Amino acid sequence: AKKMYMLHHGLLLPTETHSTDSLKFAHDFRFKDDDVVAVTYPKSGTIWMQEILPLVLNGGDLTPIHTIPNWDRVPWLEESRLASVVDQLVSPRALVSHFPYNLMPPSFSTSKAKVIYVMRNPKDLVVSSYYFHQMAEFLEDPGTFDEFVDKFLEGRVLFGKWTDHMKSWMNAELGDRIMYITYEDMLQDLPAAVRRISNFLGRNHSEEVIQKIAEHCSFKAMKTNTMSNFSLVPKIYMDNDKSHFFRKGIAGDWKNHFNSEQLARFTSVIQKELEGESFSLPWNM
Ligand code: PPS
Repeated sequence: AKKMYMLHHGLLLPTETHSTDSLKFAHDFRFKDDDVVAVTYPKSGTIWMQEILPLVLNGGDLTPIHTIPNWDRVPWLEESRLASVVDQLVSPRALVSHFPYNLMPPSFSTSKAKVIYVMRNPKDLVVSSYYFHQMAEFLEDPGTFDEFVDKFLEGRVLFGKWTDHMKSWMNAELGDRIMYITYEDMLQDLPAAVRRISNFLGRNHSEEVIQKIAEHCSFKAMKTNTMSNFSLVPKIYMDNDKSHFFRKGIAGDWKNHFNSEQLARFTSVIQKELEGESFSLPWNM
């Protein structure tokens, strides 16, 4: 049987969506100055950005989010799908990526392409990831929550250690090419988040456009958008009887999953690995 995962520079990637060819394609990808890429550690708000970015870039025209599946609309830099859709992307192009900074292709550094780094409380993203591993048939069974927390802390999960990912992007000296935002900011005030993104991309949309975009990017709106909710994906890949991609969409669900021992272990590992870093986390650990 085909192996479920491959290693790329020490990082685990699923072979269902990645290959040596797709990684070579990503490496050779030519960034343009007006490209924008939303970068996330998995389960931190990727699909959310696939909805927001096209609307911000086109001034709120709903056509792309209602006619193009999210994975073709704002493709992943590192996934196999990119090669077949890249020629159809219209500038200004939007991409997503789970790459740490050090794996970005050479053309990223030489271009003026912008990046939005979306972060989420790691306790919540590990919960989200745990359920995603139950429903995504192309990923390994997560085992018990306790086992999965261990795997996460040791970096034996997709795209490796969360702390390495954070360090790579938080320390990337990209000046005004990079914007940082949290999943929690977006949850708390989506219009404000859309406004920030719009200003960052030099769009400065009217309040009416901002409100319209936010309305169509709510959890509820996205969960019922067939072009975004993965209902087009056959059950052999994603089994909605086990969990849903649009599962809860909240902050703080970790409280329903972590026991006090797990919490202590989690906090101490994360804090230790981020010791001496010049950035601080936007959440209370
Ligand atoms: S992936 O597989 O890495 O692309 O997943 P990703 O999109 O990064 O993360 C999935 C989680 O994001 C939640 N989500 C949202 N929350 C609130 N509002 C909106 N609009 C929204 N869109 C996606 C999604 O529900 C997953 O989180 P959980 O906690 O599992 O619900």
